[in-house]
Amino acid sequence: MEFTPSQKVRQIPKSFFADLDKKIDAVEDQSTLIDLAKGNPDQPTPEFIIDELKIASEKLENHRYTPFEGKTNFLKAISNYYQKNYGVTTDPFKAILTFNGSAIGISAIPQVFLDPGDYVVTTDPCYPEYDASVALAGGKLYQLPITEANDYLPDLESIPDEVLQKTKILLLNYPNNPTGAEATSQFFEKVIQFCKLHHILAVNDFAYAALSYDEKPVSILEAPEALDYAIELNTFSKTHNMAGWRAGYVLGNESAIAAIKKYHDHVYSTIFGAVQDAATVGLESDQSSVQQLRTLYRQRRDTLVGGLKQLGWNVVEPKGTFFVWVKAPEGLDGEQFTVQILEQTNIVVAPGIGFGSNGRDYIRLSLTHDESVLKEVVERLSKINY
Ligand SMILES: Cc1ncc(COP(=O)(O)O)c(C=O)c1O
Repeated sequence: MEFTPSQKVRQIPKSFFADLDKKIDAVEDQSTLIDLAKGNPDQPTPEFIIDELKIASEKLENHRYTPFEGKTNFLKAISNYYQKNYGVTTDPFKAILTFNGSAIGISAIPQVFLDPGDYVVTTDPCYPEYDASVALAGGKLYQLPITEANDYLPDLESIPDEVLQKTKILLLNYPNNPTGAEATSQFFEKVIQFCKLHHILAVNDFAYAALSYDEKPVSILEAPEALDYAIELNTFSKTHNMAGWRAGYVLGNESAIAAIKKYHDHVYSTIFGAVQDAATVGLESDQSSVQQLRTLYRQRRDTLVGGLKQLGWNVVEPKGTFFVWVKAPEGLDGEQFTVQILEQTNIVVAPGIGFGSNGRDYIRLSLTHDESVLKEVVERLSKINY
């Protein structure tokens, strides 16, 4: 018997990353394959976090259900972290909700705020999951181009009136996957004033909050009046190399958090209490492990970006994240270039089209490999003919 999924599931796009996985699995010579397509952190979780997990896993309180929104110590640690790092004051019990990774927030937020036909405005390119989460909620996605010409920051004034009238959420992601761009304080101030004027909820997906190369990235919640109009998603996946642990949170405007909590209580479960305790020590640490990680990625960025530039490639130098956004050579689009690279060098990269139509002529390379591997990448790419 073949079962047919609902109309809702039929209309959502296939997962871009699951499709990439299939392409990678299909590569014949797996032994020399280098996968730069996905952004799966390669470094281990810091030892002090793992040590806390071991201790916390033996505590009876963590063998039981934990509170829906998160354990008190975890919520307070998040609130203190934002106070210390960004000067943002939040009530730990009203302004914060924790869940199993920011991916949960990305799928929940459109469900909570959209009625059929409402819009989420985001950028083009953007993180591919935004598309599916909006479609699942019966909403529509409107994408604003981000290019070198606008410093990879969208022009909010260019949203057409008919879209603006039905826009409930402005979904941003800075530091930005895939372009590596960062937002400025002035841009976030503009966003908040724009959202105030048009009654829109501003959401910043801050997944790469700690992964910047020069200046500390700004949080949207630092902008004046932000707690009236914005929420921010954050995660332990990249900052603390905890992608497999599934821990993230959202914080900001209390009415928005209350609405997401109401939905979350029914749809998702809680994070294992010991993972919350371990994440808490990550937040309360002196952040030296995060600093080391930043230094590591900076070296890798310099190796790959420097190497590609020497080959004459058109590289967008990332200010943050662990991705490098590269323009395909004249005469090839990103997908064609991806095929050439794979066939000639056995390196898999992500075609930019997966992030939006504006990414058609680009490819995305990830820095989640040792420097020696990235040097090998440059060496192999130096021999490619196109
Ligand atoms: C922009 C962006 N947001 C969210 C996520 C999901 O992160 P998490 O592991 O917290 O679910 C990713 C993961 O790659 C990402 O790139």
